[in-house]
Amino acid sequence: MYRVHRIQIIGPSNSESPHRTRNKNMDIAITLHLLATIVWIGGMWFAHFALRPAAATLEAPQRLALWAGVFRRFFLWVWVAIAVLFVTGFWIVLVEFQGFANVKLYVHLMLGVATVMTALFVYLFFVPYRNFRLAMSSNNTAQAAAALGRIRTVVSVNLVLGLFTTIAAAAGAYWF
Ligand code: HEM
Repeated sequence: MYRVHRIQIIGPSNSESPHRTRNKNMDIAITLHLLATIVWIGGMWFAHFALRPAAATLEAPQRLALWAGVFRRFFLWVWVAIAVLFVTGFWIVLVEFQGFANVKLYVHLMLGVATVMTALFVYLFFVPYRNFRLAMSSNNTAQAAAALGRIRTVVSVNLVLGLFTTIAAAAGAYWF
């Protein structure tokens, strides 16, 4: 079992092993958790800092068609990432740490921000992204561009929140 936090396992008091206690289930859970983080946060980083400035050089019809293809594929992976983050996160807390009473502040923080991010994504998917698809199917370029702007705003907020969560989760064990 891996019932204590990393900081309690790694430390000068644990002279036998400087590494985490061996635990196959925890290894799988934390690896899946990190892969899901990379997919979601890394995808938003790529979209914001690489794809968006490159796509801005295209004419509106090509740019909107490009984003339609990107969203169709990426949002599917975001649903998968969210499911993996919540299932593995709750599994670690409930099975390995034996409940929320035993977890440190940064895990509560992670769950809180992850819930806000998920709510924002659900809104993005069912409101501006739906409007974007409707506008694209009726060839309404102006409406599609407006919906794209709203999607971009929500993704920017989620990117900041996601980076904050990752920093809190990765460094939190050493701070709190
Ligand atoms: C946007 C969503 C999330 C992100 C970006 C995120 C990110 C991370 C990262 C980077 C770690 C550190 C992994 C390591 O030890 O190297 C971590 C660990 C962890 N996360 Fe999350 N996480 C998210 C959502 C959640 C949710 C919803 C839960 C549910 C309670 C959760 C529970 C945990 C737990 C229990 C750990 C292990 C903490 C420890 O080892 O002390 N996470 N997460």
